[in-house]
Amino acid sequence: MKENITILAIETSCDETSVAVMENGREIRANIISSQIEDHQVFGGVVPEIASRLHLESINGIIDAALREAKISFSDLDAVAVTKGPGLVGAILVGVSAAKAISLSLGIPLLGVNHMQGHICANYIAYPELEPPFVSLVVSGGHSYLIEVLDYTSYIIHGRTRDDAAGECFDKVARTLGLGYPGGPQIDRLYFAGNPQAIEFPRVIIDKQTYDFSFSGLKTAVINYVHQHRQKGQPIVIADVAASFQQAVIDVLVDKSFRLLDTLGYDKLVVSGGVAANRGLRDAMATRASKTNTQVLFPPIVLCTDNAAMIGCQGYYDYLGGRESDLAMRVYPNLSL
Ligand code: KG4
Ligand code: ZN
Repeated sequence: MKENITILAIETSCDETSVAVMENGREIRANIISSQIEDHQVFGGVVPEIASRLHLESINGIIDAALREAKISFSDLDAVAVTKGPGLVGAILVGVSAAKAISLSLGIPLLGVNHMQGHICANYIAYPELEPPFVSLVVSGGHSYLIEVLDYTSYIIHGRTRDDAAGECFDKVARTLGLGYPGGPQIDRLYFAGNPQAIEFPRVIIDKQTYDFSFSGLKTAVINYVHQHRQKGQPIVIADVAASFQQAVIDVLVDKSFRLLDTLGYDKLVVSGGVAANRGLRDAMATRASKTNTQVLFPPIVLCTDNAAMIGCQGYYDYLGGRESDLAMRVYPNLSL
């Protein structure tokens, strides 16, 4: 096999059009992320049809820009990786169609990547020495997983969300509080301005036997709190509500993660996904880790939320494992890990 494997990676599963050039899986030569957030903000959330159209408008230009930034041309590529799911069907189709065209015209392998596996990979990019096995908490807008990462392509799922994903819950609570989309960063900002102990929202642990999450009860409790106060004309302190909500999410995520580490006997926790950008969560995990003999890793913020570099990293390990896709590859909006 060649010494250096150069992969072009494409991510269009939601509201970021991103293209990366990755060298040997972990080295970023380009990682361009074009966010559509401003176009969706006015609607209070991502509008799937608008997302597809915006991906379509920008994808070719972003591919060119990534190649330029990496100072390479199409002929230097060894493979093309693309998110095949989960995500918005029309949005994913744009990236997959572009990747198929590149694969066919250059005669290079097509690698259909699971977006959630990609999120885990963000930490391989950030920490070049990191290798499986470890315990991983993956918390994004659409999914929450607590898993054992056995190697680069196999996992044991110990916990997943039974209803709303963590990020989804941040977004819905933020909308109720009139904070706009996406909710995570807004609530995180207020966490440090408000009092996280002001209101005792429920911590839904379900029961001690499971590592599954349930956030919809918490979400409903916050929404009820806000509506009841508004109906009675009682003032609410938005920063306190946001901070108390975030504290409840943090407590559940930290508790379950460390309980699983303990049960399985691991001393390394790797956190990723959009919610891993949360400063309150990062602080709480670090504090808990310092009390035990545990190492907790988070990627830099830019690699927490959606980006193509992480897709290229997973694509590299799929390539090494001979897990190529063919041109008949479909898209999988509901793909799980
Ligand atoms: O991983 P991601 O970029 O996209 C999906 O694959 O879903 O995650 C997006 C989610 C959104 O729900 C957003 O509100 C949340 O990540 N998020 C945050 C923060 N930044 C983004 N949640 C909490 N705190 C943050 N700082
Ligand atoms: Zn994501």
